[in-house]
Amino acid sequence: MPILQCSDLIKTYFQGDTPINAINRAFIKVMRGEFISIIGQSGSGKSTLLHILSGLDRPGAGKVYIDGKDIFAMNDREFSKFRNKNLGFIFQSFNLLPTLTAKENILMPQLIAGQTPSKQYFDELVEMLGIADRIHHLPSELSGGQQQRVAVARALINKPKIVFADEPTGNLDAKSAEELVSLLLKSRELYNQTLIMVTHDSNLAAKADRVMRMTNGILEPITKEQIF
Ligand SMILES: Nc1ncnc2c1ncn2[C@@H]1O[C@H](COP(=O)(O)OP(=O)(O)O)[C@@H](O)[C@H]1O
Ligand SMILES: [Mg+2]
Repeated sequence: MPILQCSDLIKTYFQGDTPINAINRAFIKVMRGEFISIIGQSGSGKSTLLHILSGLDRPGAGKVYIDGKDIFAMNDREFSKFRNKNLGFIFQSFNLLPTLTAKENILMPQLIAGQTPSKQYFDELVEMLGIADRIHHLPSELSGGQQQRVAVARALINKPKIVFADEPTGNLDAKSAEELVSLLLKSRELYNQTLIMVTHDSNLAAKADRVMRMTNGILEPITKEQIF
C-alpha cells in the first residue's frame, strides 16, 4: 500500500474573476521510504501541492490518502492528531515561534498532541543536528542554519512517516544546505521515512529516487536528465 496517494487534485484560486489553476488534476503515488523531489518555476503550484498533500490546505476537488486514510474525511481533531503523529513539515522560512526557545519550539508538536516527549530521542535528535548547546536560545539568537535545524528537529520529533519540505535550503548558504540535506537523508534512513521535497537546487533534486516537475499546475514525472 502506498504511504501517500492522491488522485485528480484540483485547486483553483481566483484573482478577481480570473481563475488560476494552481493545481490541475495532479496524481501521485508514493511508497514508504521513497524520496521524491519536486521542481518547477516560481508560481507553478509547488507549495500549494505540498500544503494540500500534507493537509495544511484543502483541495477544490480530489482526494489525498495517507497510510490508506482519506485525510479530508477526518474531522479537525482527528486530523490534527493524525498529522502530529505521522507528518512533519519544513518550510523555507523556518516558521519558528520567536518568543519560544529552540527546545520549546522543537517540543511544540508533542505538547499539542498531548504526548510526553522522549528525553532520549530529543537528546539524540539535537545531538545529530548539532544544536545540543543552543537549545535554550531564542530563534533570534541563532544563525539561519541553526534555526533551520531547529525547524528540522521540530518536524522530526514525533518520528513522522512522511516529511514534507518546501525549499528547505532556500535561505541557507551552500554549506548549511548540504549539512541539512544529509541530516534529512540520515533520519530518513534510520526511520524509513518518506521525504517529499520541493527544491530549486537541481543537484539536490537529482538525489531523489524520483523527480517530478510542476508546470502551471500540471505535475508530471521526469527523468534526472530532464532536470538539467
Ligand atoms: N492564497 C492564495 N490566493 C490566491 N492565489 C494564490 C494563493 N496561493 C497561491 N496562489 C497562486 O497560485 C499559484 C501557485 O502558487 P504556489 O503554489 O505558491 O507556487 P510555487 O510554490 O510553485 O511558487 C500562483 O499563481 C500563486 O499566485
Ligand atoms: Mg513555493
